[in-house]
This record gives sequence, C-alpha cells and structure tokens, in this order.
Amino acid sequence: MPQVTEIAPDVYRISVFFPEINLQFNHFLIKDDEPMLFHTGLRRMFPQVREGVSKVLDPGMLRWISWSHFESDECGALHDWMAVAPHAQPACGMVGALVNVNDFYGKECRALTPKDVLVTGKYRFRYYNTPQLPHGWDAGVLFEETQRTLFSSDLFHHDGDVEPLISGSVLDRVRHSLATYQAGPLANYVPYTHNTKLILDGLASLNPLTVATMHGSSFSGNCSKELLDLAIVMKDVLDKPSYQFGF
Ligand SMILES: [Fe+2]
Ligand SMILES: [Fe+2]
Repeated sequence: MPQVTEIAPDVYRISVFFPEINLQFNHFLIKDDEPMLFHTGLRRMFPQVREGVSKVLDPGMLRWISWSHFESDECGALHDWMAVAPHAQPACGMVGALVNVNDFYGKECRALTPKDVLVTGKYRFRYYNTPQLPHGWDAGVLFEETQRTLFSSDLFHHDGDVEPLISGSVLDRVRHSLATYQAGPLANYVPYTHNTKLILDGLASLNPLTVATMHGSSFSGNCSKELLDLAIVMKDVLDKPSYQFGF
C-alpha cells in the first residue's frame, strides 16, 4: 500500500517501502494543467505507484513523465506508464535522451537542458545536468521554479521507513547510509568527483524551499545550507580510495 503525502502545494509524494532492504522508493506527482510524474518506479512497483497516483488523479491524465538518470527505479516502468497515459510525454536530460532513452522508448522524448523551461500550467520546471551526481553520465535534477522545489533523485538518500517531510536536517542519516553502503557490497554507489562540490554549490544557489528526495524524507527549511553541507559529508565519506580489484 503506497503512502501518499502532499509535501508542498500540488506536490504528492507516493512512497513505497521495501522492508527487505529497509528502503523507501518515492515518486512525485505534480498536479497541474499538465500533470507530471517524476520517477516511474521499478516495473514490479508499477501497480502500487499507479494506485498512489489514482488517489490524486486519473493516471490517464498524466502529460509528463520525467526522471533524473537511466536506472530501473527512475524510469524502468516508463512503458507501463505510457500504456495507461498515452498522452504523456517522457522528458529527461539531453544526454539521457541521446544515449539511452530514445532507443529504449522507441521514440524521441523531450530532451531538457537548463536553457529551457517546461511549463505545465502554473508550474515551471528546469532540468539541471549533474553528471555523475548522484551517478551516471546522464544524471540531472529537476527544479520547479515557482515553489522552489528541488527533485533531487538519489541525492540525500537515507534508509528506513521515515517521515514523508521534515523541517530539520537529514544529513546525519545521509552520512550513516552513505557509510553503510560504502562498507558493503554496494560500495561506490555515489562517486565523489572534482565536480561534486561545484554542482552542489550550483544547486544551493537555487535556494530551494523543499527538497523532494527519492529515498528517505523530503525536507524543507534551509535547503541551501543542507546542499552545501552535503558536499562536506560526501567528501568525508567518499573522497578516498575504496576499490579492491577482484572483489
Ligand atoms: Fe540512481
Ligand atoms: Fe534511486
């Protein structure tokens, strides 16, 4: 049973918790003249996410389906969504469209760059490229400019069946989850690169009011500081050799 919570006006967080891995998968529905779903979810999760969307609007009304990077939890159920929402259009970053999605989807999708704005009615979305952050050449985040909501994908990932929205910091939880992943078989989930701090500084300059997190609690409050401090946490945990050949 998905948990549906309005975390900002017209922004609905549809959360599915997998106890086996102690992890939430959060999908964001933005209700507007042209409704958008950010993150399709995994194919196996599609019935639950569709049920969550149905609590807010008819899934057939969706007009935009978007995500950060090409990965199963981000866009694996794209074909399932297109089957129930035939008037929807996929929208992702230009690299993702050219390298993966146009072929995977079988048609050209809307390729987003920071230079153009996707207007869905009263809301305005801009896609910022964030290569290799959280991971993947094609990675990016979506920013809704009128309410200043940042859809951050795997940035700020933390484990547990946590609150839909908090007003404080999530960074202690983020540090713990990054360190736990780094010590186990899923190490190097997020790389630390020369661009990590530059990208996080840029996202902080957007001065978001809410960060909509794919895994864990969304949060509101001093989001710029949280983004600047995430760079410190990531450097602490990730900026060191971790690769062992043959393991
Ligand atoms: Fe990811
Ligand atoms: Fe994810």
